[in-house]
Amino acid sequence: MRLAILLSGRGSNFVAIHDAIARGDLDAGIVCVISNRPEAGGIGRARSLGLPAHVIDHRTFDRRALHEAEVLRVLGAARPDFIALAGYMRLLSPAFIAAYPMRIVNIHPSLLPSFPGVAAQAQAVAYGAKTSGCTVHFVDEHLDAGPIIVQRAVDVLDDDDASTLSARILVEEHIAYVKALKKLAGGRYRVEGRRVVFE
Ligand code: GRF
Repeated sequence: MRLAILLSGRGSNFVAIHDAIARGDLDAGIVCVISNRPEAGGIGRARSLGLPAHVIDHRTFDRRALHEAEVLRVLGAARPDFIALAGYMRLLSPAFIAAYPMRIVNIHPSLLPSFPGVAAQAQAVAYGAKTSGCTVHFVDEHLDAGPIIVQRAVDVLDDDDASTLSARILVEEHIAYVKALKKLAGGRYRVEGRRVVFE
């Protein structure tokens, strides 16, 4: 599986995926890492690991479409089978998603459809949820809404704040992302409406 990674920040999910490949747990190769932020920790990490690393700073483009066109150009050259969003803080346009239908996956720090959008862990604490977790899903044109590949649950403790809950969810994110990519790399699945069915 040729895998592209898009990120905007520290990149711990990217590193978890890289580590799984390095220890032989995930049969994949990272063909490019793209960050829209030059200061993202994840892109520095990609460079130091010797991976093809690209900063495509959205602030240097006049329009969203021009930024996306450049990301698509770099992706096109890398020929990924799947694109993993790993803390990529940009909404993708329908045109971008149509270029890789059911080939873009994302991780979200809640059990979707609960708590989509930003600060999902803080939303779960504020709501008084007893269980939250993380979701790896295909990306469609709606926010945090595509067919679900893997979920992992995490108890919300009485004394949790957004930060302590985030830390425990993050541990499960790293497991969930690798698990989801392994399932996709295996290739034996089909998407039936909202349901991802594994054979
Ligand atoms: C994770 O919590 C992920 O669920 C969300 O953004 C965060 C990225 O963390 N989409 P990292 O950059 O992978 O450490």
